[in-house]
Amino acid sequence: MQAVTFDSFGGPEVLRLAEVPTPEPGPDEVLIRVLASGVNRADLLQRQGHYPPPRGASAILGLEVSGVVDSVGDGVRGWQSGDECVALLSGGGYAEYVAVPAGQVVQPPRGTDLVTASGLIEVAATVTSNLSLVGLRAGETFLVHGGTGGIGTFAIQYASGLGARVFATAGTPRKLELCRDLGAADAFDYHGNWLAALREATDGRGADVILDVMGAAYLASNLDALALDGRLVVIGLQGGRSGTLDLAKLLAKRASVTATGLRGRPVEQKAAICAEVVQLVWPLIESGRIKPATETRYGAADAAEAHRHLASGEAVGKVILTWT
Ligand SMILES: NC(=O)c1ccc[n+]([C@@H]2O[C@H](COP(=O)([O-])OP(=O)(O)OC[C@H]3O[C@@H](n4cnc5c(N)ncnc54)[C@H](OP(=O)(O)O)[C@@H]3O)[C@@H](O)[C@H]2O)c1
Repeated sequence: MQAVTFDSFGGPEVLRLAEVPTPEPGPDEVLIRVLASGVNRADLLQRQGHYPPPRGASAILGLEVSGVVDSVGDGVRGWQSGDECVALLSGGGYAEYVAVPAGQVVQPPRGTDLVTASGLIEVAATVTSNLSLVGLRAGETFLVHGGTGGIGTFAIQYASGLGARVFATAGTPRKLELCRDLGAADAFDYHGNWLAALREATDGRGADVILDVMGAAYLASNLDALALDGRLVVIGLQGGRSGTLDLAKLLAKRASVTATGLRGRPVEQKAAICAEVVQLVWPLIESGRIKPATETRYGAADAAEAHRHLASGEAVGKVILTWT
């Protein structure tokens, strides 16, 4: 089969299409003929050598796909050759075929184009699992950084659907407007004083829950932005991994700081999260209450261009590779 591979870590130019062995489905695995592969920021880090795949995972990039079932391994029930599906992966998605534990394979939401569906499950699984973890409730105030990225476009809509009052940060006027279009009560330019703007918008109270993609760079400001009993959940380290946490402020606010990674979770946890996505998210997409993010599609042979686009800061929503 063809796969997007690289021989050495580096810039987008290291990516190339190559012939590699087609995987076989092991016990409890489904072999998917891939129609499209979601591109995630983690793929850029892995290509650069900063994000090794977990033990046992494919060295090929790619954390999510859509496609059709090719064949199934021993013990798999409920899937047949030709069934349309989407899958959450630990790796291996930038390829014509990928073998996936059956619990991480789900039917796509009804009414969604199958190529578009390739870009849904990684963000949906990340956002729902983290907002469940920190217990975001109707009536609470929610802030997401990077409101027009893959995570942000989904998080704004999902948190609004939960009944939260949603705020977001973004880097350009066009993106700020898009955050508001997606349902944010307001959006703040992260080049300016987003903390002051959030305080003003919340009468000084701050956010009950913050979903953060910036890590160290925003640790202190995020803590300042939390309301009493607030919860900060860090899922991205775009601003670095090590920061100083003011425990006195944390204590005074009775606040909590959590960080989670989806990729390294065991298969059973990923399967449970996928089941939650089908239960909680797919109905919202099927009813139109959550709209799949704007997407930019590239042929798999243009994976390097796709990575350049995501890295450029110009991307809005999802970037997708197609294999047709
Ligand atoms: N822990 C997990 O399980 C998990 C799972 C999925 C994703 N992630 C992480 O979540 C992050 C976002 O993923 P994604 O797929 O949404 O990536 P993406 O589509 O590339 O979006 C990145 C976002 O970061 C925003 N950003 C950049 N600099 C910023 C700043 N100084 N302040 C606030 N926002 C800033 C960008 O905003 P502008 O476009 O406005 O500049 C953009 O919205 C990545 O770091 C990814 O690795 C973690």
